[in-house]
Amino acid sequence: MPLPKTGTGAPDRTTHEATVTSKQTLSVIDNRTGKKYEIPIQNDTIHATDLRQIRVNDDDFGMMSYDPAFNNTASCKSAVTFIDGDKGILRYRGYPIEQLAETSTFLETAYLIIHGELPTRPQQTEWVDQITHHTFIHENIKKLMEGFRYDAHPMGMFVSTVAALSTFYPEASRVRDAQSRYRQIIRLIAKAPTLAAFAYRHNTGMPYAYPDNDLSYTGNVLNMMFKTTEAKYQPNPVLEHALDVLFILHADHEQNCSANAMRAVGSSEADPYSAMAAAAAALYGPLHGGANEQVLRMLREIGHIENVSEYIKRVKAKEVKLMGFGHRVYKNYDPRAKIIKRVADEVFEVVGRNPLIDIALELERIALQDDYFVSHKLYPNVDFYSGLIYEALRFPVAMFPVLFAIGRTPGWLAQWQEMLIDPEQKIARPRQVYIGAVKRDYVPIQKRS
Ligand code: CMC
Repeated sequence: MPLPKTGTGAPDRTTHEATVTSKQTLSVIDNRTGKKYEIPIQNDTIHATDLRQIRVNDDDFGMMSYDPAFNNTASCKSAVTFIDGDKGILRYRGYPIEQLAETSTFLETAYLIIHGELPTRPQQTEWVDQITHHTFIHENIKKLMEGFRYDAHPMGMFVSTVAALSTFYPEASRVRDAQSRYRQIIRLIAKAPTLAAFAYRHNTGMPYAYPDNDLSYTGNVLNMMFKTTEAKYQPNPVLEHALDVLFILHADHEQNCSANAMRAVGSSEADPYSAMAAAAAALYGPLHGGANEQVLRMLREIGHIENVSEYIKRVKAKEVKLMGFGHRVYKNYDPRAKIIKRVADEVFEVVGRNPLIDIALELERIALQDDYFVSHKLYPNVDFYSGLIYEALRFPVAMFPVLFAIGRTPGWLAQWQEMLIDPEQKIARPRQVYIGAVKRDYVPIQKRS
């Protein structure tokens, strides 16, 4: 059953209780007391605070649910992205990812994710114009970049400079002001590629290349990364399109680790630059957006098709993980991985075949028929093939998570805005089950044995 749109229909507790029919409840018997409770069910979910009425006595705090890593806890109602992990379905605002990847552009998809609807032609023109005219960053950010070591990881530079942007736009702290919010959304989508490209140029010791407003969003990404002495950089249209599709595929993925970080930090009403720096930091980890980098390192370590079976044995012995495989939500083929495989072929036609693809295909072939992977429902995820394309586009591995971050920026911002306007949301503050020492008295150091 689709959830009501947040911010429009006030899906509050009153509505929640009013829509409950006699069968839409969960009966709970507390065997400690013999008491029976009727817990309302909405959207196949119970409200965790409804458990608090379950108490042994008046001093009892009340029942909580324990769910480390949010394995089975919805932290919000969201109208942005729908995933059915068992069926391998991904939709942004209702539109299947396959259709968007085939026919949309990244900027149009970003508009859809932020606004909830596809733009009309005038809306599209205005949106593209606004993003295009906010790509420049203050020259002092460049100076900040120059302070990093020559070999600084570009993701570390990206995280830091996104945070630093907040100091240039103090009005961004007005997170309850819709107009201010919108300005920061435009700025962040526009400036993310500039920060990413400057981090890359710093690493390679190349002079920073400024944005070119004549190019598309993605054409400009390639321009700022790869322009050398030519008067005007002309991106290869096949490669430009491939990167655009990759950005679309990464644009949002509902309550993943980094979106959750964005919402959690944003819930304290921190400005969106600070919140997005936290989201990007969460993305950096090898279990999340850093996985694409690890996939490439893994493929290089395997080195040859002949070594694949040996590597699979090590995975099954739990010595190593098969990076780019497995997902918290998908227990079927990640639909993004299917699309990426097709895009990889298009890119290889232009730049030549990446020899690591044969190792990747062999890994996938063996894994998909192996009992361990079948029984654990482990399939290739978005990161398994994306790195091979990034590498074919001449990006160094350290840039892979940064490219992921460019694509994910509209998703983080849509999640952030949705959280702020949702009347049910408050500052994110989980409970804990305390398992430490009971009260004891302080012992002066001379009396400690
Ligand atoms: N290789 C080998 N075994 C695995 C893998 C893997 N890649 N992923 C999960 N497993 C096993 C895991 O050892 C566990 O086995 P057992 O039940 O025998 O102890 C079982 O599968 C369940 O794993 P889990 O860690 O409980 O699953 P999770 O939902 O907590 O973790 C994951 C999801 C993505 C962190 C994990 O699958 C993983 O570490 N994959 C590799 C890293 C990766 O590719 N990450 C990118 C995710 S997609 C893009 C994104 O969101 O950024």
